[in-house]
Amino acid sequence: MRETLEKIKAEALEALSAPSANIEDLRIKYLGKKGELTAVLRGMGKLSAEERPVIGQLANDIRAEIEAKIEAMTAERHAREIEEKLEAERLDVTIPGYKIAQGHFHPLTLVQRQLEEIFLGMGYSIVEGPEVELDYYNFQALNIPKDHPARDTQDTFYITENILLRSQTSPVQARTMEKQKPPIKVLSPGRVYRSDAVDATHSPLFHQVEGLVVDKGITMGDLKGTLEMFAKTMFGEETKIRFRPHHFPFTEPSAEVDVSCFVCGGKGCRLCKGEGWIEILGAGMVHPNVLRMCGIDPEVYSGFAFGMGVERIAMLKYRIDDMRHLYENDVRFLNQF
Ligand code: DAH
Repeated sequence: MRETLEKIKAEALEALSAPSANIEDLRIKYLGKKGELTAVLRGMGKLSAEERPVIGQLANDIRAEIEAKIEAMTAERHAREIEEKLEAERLDVTIPGYKIAQGHFHPLTLVQRQLEEIFLGMGYSIVEGPEVELDYYNFQALNIPKDHPARDTQDTFYITENILLRSQTSPVQARTMEKQKPPIKVLSPGRVYRSDAVDATHSPLFHQVEGLVVDKGITMGDLKGTLEMFAKTMFGEETKIRFRPHHFPFTEPSAEVDVSCFVCGGKGCRLCKGEGWIEILGAGMVHPNVLRMCGIDPEVYSGFAFGMGVERIAMLKYRIDDMRHLYENDVRFLNQF
């Protein structure tokens, strides 16, 4: 019987040591009610009175040993499972997180904001006017009566005979002067419309920024100083400006204003088409008729005004060669700003 017990012990311990052992099956096999050890103990009745306690003791020791082994193996397996799980679910907290794609401003918005900032810095206020405008403000109050030839270059979309989509931001000048008495110092950005076919430099919808200053003693010198300051801030300290005589019905005298080419510095290159200068805006001294129509006495007050295209400034600043890029919303283009 002793040998049987020792054999059970040896077998059980060996079986339990195998990495693939089914511990619960083995527990039932050796220690269960119908298990091998129990079977041996059942036969103890046949033993002599001296042998019984010895074998009993041995059987108990073996049971304890097998139980201890089962416990050890279970603990080891549990530890290994945790180890494997940790390894499989390894988390490296030092890996940088996923970058969340973030949007940004459209180049036209960037330029418009920069324009606003420059003029806010010079004490201007931002004012806005309606895009659906009266013929009166878009033309008549700006010294462009019905049938004036200047209307040809600013053909727009008419809602009725007297209501149209504004072709320029200049009507905001008249609206401002009607409401507000001098001193006036305003900047007016916004959308404008023209009945133009789409091409690399034209769009039926585009953006302008208008400036207006009216006070006692405002001169062309103030206009020049203001635009010089603007040009240097927008295109660089080295930038010079040049006034060329021009005609606008609502200013007298009027000028087209050029900046020295900020690529070649005036020597002549592809951007300035060999000219050394780039046209950026129209400007002039507010026409006395316009002041008068808006209820401001031109004998007492004078003023200057200027207007520029936001697309044009953006295209120059960012070297965009086709205006259509600005409206197509192609992310490959927009991502560059
Ligand atoms: N409104 C003019 C245009 O669209 C630009 C302009 C020229 C605005 C001279 C002005 C100005 O205020 O004084 O062509």
